[in-house]
Amino acid sequence: MRISIDTAIQMIKDGEVVAAPTETVYGLAASIEHPKAIEQIFALKKRPANNPLITHVATSQEVRDFADELPRGFEVLAEAFWPGPLTLVIPIKEGSLSSIIRAGLPKAAFRVPDHPLIQALINGAGPIVMPSANLSGKPSSTKPEHVELDFGAEFPVLDGGICEKGIESTVLIAEEGVWKIGRLGSITAEQIEEVLGYSPELPDSEVTDKPLCPGQMYRHYAPKARLHLCGSIPDQCSVVLGFSDRTYHPAKVIKVLGSLDDPGAVAKSLYQVFRELDEEGIIDAWVDMDFPNTGLWVSIRERIKKAAAQ
Ligand code: TXA
Ligand code: MG
Repeated sequence: MRISIDTAIQMIKDGEVVAAPTETVYGLAASIEHPKAIEQIFALKKRPANNPLITHVATSQEVRDFADELPRGFEVLAEAFWPGPLTLVIPIKEGSLSSIIRAGLPKAAFRVPDHPLIQALINGAGPIVMPSANLSGKPSSTKPEHVELDFGAEFPVLDGGICEKGIESTVLIAEEGVWKIGRLGSITAEQIEEVLGYSPELPDSEVTDKPLCPGQMYRHYAPKARLHLCGSIPDQCSVVLGFSDRTYHPAKVIKVLGSLDDPGAVAKSLYQVFRELDEEGIIDAWVDMDFPNTGLWVSIRERIKKAAAQ
């Protein structure tokens, strides 16, 4: 059910959960002041309680209310990327943010999202937590229809159309005086290096039981279809996830991710294509993994690998 911004603000203030757009993906929003609504988010998504949530605020100034001291580099990162698709995980002042949001951790995640509707929502209702608006493990939602498929046609959605970025924010974690990437995302390691002056450590490509971001422990972003990752597409396959600038065997069903010249467009369409596989009941799909290993492609590759992990 599509709702107006005024209704969304009122519902958040009343302790209800609504879905709202950001520049990355849609989120399930609840006020940080309403623990019952936050519990409801975990239940709706079937999200493990040990996976913490990002607090979304209107300006970097507001983050100061939660911290005694900001880690070195916070200011330049906030200045360079906020509002925008970067999440910063920092030590917080005791008692400043409910433990359920942080999953009991001493650090908490903050982001200033860049979308007029989400900014209006935060300005009207105060800071909100907002995990991606999908069932845990499924691809994130990049348009209202995805939210309605996962949570039902009656679920309240603030309609902002299709999300500009299409994959989630990059999560940077302040650790031992440096910033490490906990989750790859819409901001690239190269962009971060340019601002910090050093290259941030990347997350383990292997699934470990102690990742910097608890969320990285779980299978993610996954369609029901089995994804076969290929350096070159074999002849004997039916459905291909590939690129508009390559030719594939004419007998195959081709799902176009976008052009090799435009990783931004590929990121924007990735979850839509994953979801289409399910809508069409496709059981196996072969993904053309022959693309660069730099910039946004690194995040795209990570998402595809996570989606393919069984
Ligand atoms: O782009 C985004 O970040 C979207 C939009 C809606 O803002 N939100 C989003 O939230 O992707 P979610 O909950 O789906 O993913 C948050 C990630 C998880 O991997 C979680 O483990 C990590 O951030 N995270 C949150 N708080 C953390 C903390 N205190 N320490 C380490 N990782 C944290
Ligand atoms: Mg998520």
